[in-house]
Amino acid sequence: MAKKKAPERRSARWFGRQDIYGFIYRSWVKNRGVPNDQFDGRPVIGICNTWSELTPCNTHFRVLAEHVRHGVLEAGGFPLEFPVMSLGETLLRPTAMLYRNLASMDAEESIRGNPLDGVVLLGGCDKTTPSILMGAASVDLPTVFVSGGPMLSGKYRGTDIGSGTNVWSMSEDLRAGKITLEEFHEAESCMHRSHGHCMTMGTASTMASMVEALGVAMPGNAAIPAVDARRNVLARMAGRRIVELVGENICLSKILTRQAFENAIRANAAIGGSTNAVIHLIAVARRIGVELKLADWDRLGRGVHTLVNLMPSGKYLMEDFYYAGGLPAVLRELGANGLLHRNALTVNGKSIWENVKDAPCWNRDVITPFKRPFKKNTGIAVLRGNLCPGGAIIKPSAATPRLLKHRGRAVVFESIEDFHRRIGDPALDIDEKSVMVLKNCGPKGYPGMAEVGNMPLPPKLLKKGVTDMVRISDARMSGTAYGTVVLHAVPEAAAGGTLALVQNGDLIELDVAKRRLNLLVSSSELKKRRQSWKAPKAPLARGYWKLYFDHVLQADQGADLDFLAGKSGSFVPRDNH
Ligand code: FES
Repeated sequence: MAKKKAPERRSARWFGRQDIYGFIYRSWVKNRGVPNDQFDGRPVIGICNTWSELTPCNTHFRVLAEHVRHGVLEAGGFPLEFPVMSLGETLLRPTAMLYRNLASMDAEESIRGNPLDGVVLLGGCDKTTPSILMGAASVDLPTVFVSGGPMLSGKYRGTDIGSGTNVWSMSEDLRAGKITLEEFHEAESCMHRSHGHCMTMGTASTMASMVEALGVAMPGNAAIPAVDARRNVLARMAGRRIVELVGENICLSKILTRQAFENAIRANAAIGGSTNAVIHLIAVARRIGVELKLADWDRLGRGVHTLVNLMPSGKYLMEDFYYAGGLPAVLRELGANGLLHRNALTVNGKSIWENVKDAPCWNRDVITPFKRPFKKNTGIAVLRGNLCPGGAIIKPSAATPRLLKHRGRAVVFESIEDFHRRIGDPALDIDEKSVMVLKNCGPKGYPGMAEVGNMPLPPKLLKKGVTDMVRISDARMSGTAYGTVVLHAVPEAAAGGTLALVQNGDLIELDVAKRRLNLLVSSSELKKRRQSWKAPKAPLARGYWKLYFDHVLQADQGADLDFLAGKSGSFVPRDNH
């Protein structure tokens, strides 16, 4: 029987042509010394690089990309590296999240418009992971994700300090007069002392864990430190593997199934992961065509315990997590307790269970067994009520247990600037039972839904020894932050949510066990207040900010732009000349 002809590769529509277009497509690529045989029909692999000196967490990515390149060459592929917009969490203002969707468009169009058969995505700092994964999902080629890896543990005067988490605690100590400005400055140099992203279980580590749990990254991706040689090996193996994936025609949609997302949600609960994962995973799912809802987070996370004792919920850091066994050891616990879809396919060609069923754990203080968990029943809780009819979330593992059921009077801040202006005022009418309410920090309101939901406590209460209070907003919070913080209220204040109508002194009731969040104000009074509410205008009348403001969806829909949901696939656009 005649052998079935392999389908023509996408890249052949550029490089396989014997006409003027083939000349154009090949000849310019040859200008850096690429030999003829690279155009012989072998898989062309894009290496999508978010390297930037403006993204400190990704500054080692040129080296990482070289290791992917070696792997692609070793497996007989033709690697072509390209940059996309990089989003640095610490420098980019008003918030990197404003640009996540823009970067996703950059990645999507760069992949589709070029002669690529498969792609390796390099992400690290928080938004660089979801942005390029969202873009790749809308194209749906064979795809492997390689994370940049966490920094080494911060070391300060003999103790470990973690990215973000200890920034928050040390700045509160400074404001409470417990440490000096000199000590504060010294800690700056001690905290971030190597390449890599934040080494707490913040958003970057969470998203690196999410891509591993989704099966789109190789086993071990989440925790290997950025400077450990094994990170480079992982990149190299990903380079080899993507060439095979193209040969096997395993597109991203075969990996990013509903089962994969359900595995990731449970993994997020087990690692005590960032609340930001909720928005990002919903956004990725909507791109690939999986219907993932806020309610799925609550339903699937129930009964899952936090097994990983890492900051901000615990005491260790990502380096410890790696040495203890990393995410495979966590996924093994989930799988052994009926909380993993074992057959979900991963990019190395094996099921997730095949990858993790024998994963060892070397330190049970860092990764606890499911039967003796670090914290019990700690998935993301989704709250409903008149203050958030579309939902709001809280991470109970990072909250103070006694505050999870609380009634208090509102102290309202109309914006983050209003908050900064008044929070230090000794005359501010606030006590430890008050509920701090922050408005206008959601997707439209900020714009970009900044990480300001974990409002620092008033200095006068800090000095009294108060360590936590209930805080409510339409904002996000850094994955490295902690506290009894209700986030992502939908609809946000700037979209006319009830949050916009809260006034000082109103009673608010939070009951996390019952999943309720209510403003105890009569509906007739709220109706009256609504009459004097005015919708805000777009912060800029042109450019991306305007596009974003006009099209951004609410947090429960992943805060994507409305016209970006779904995928356009990997069709080859018409010729360019
Ligand atoms: Fe880049 Fe935290 S600032 S990961």
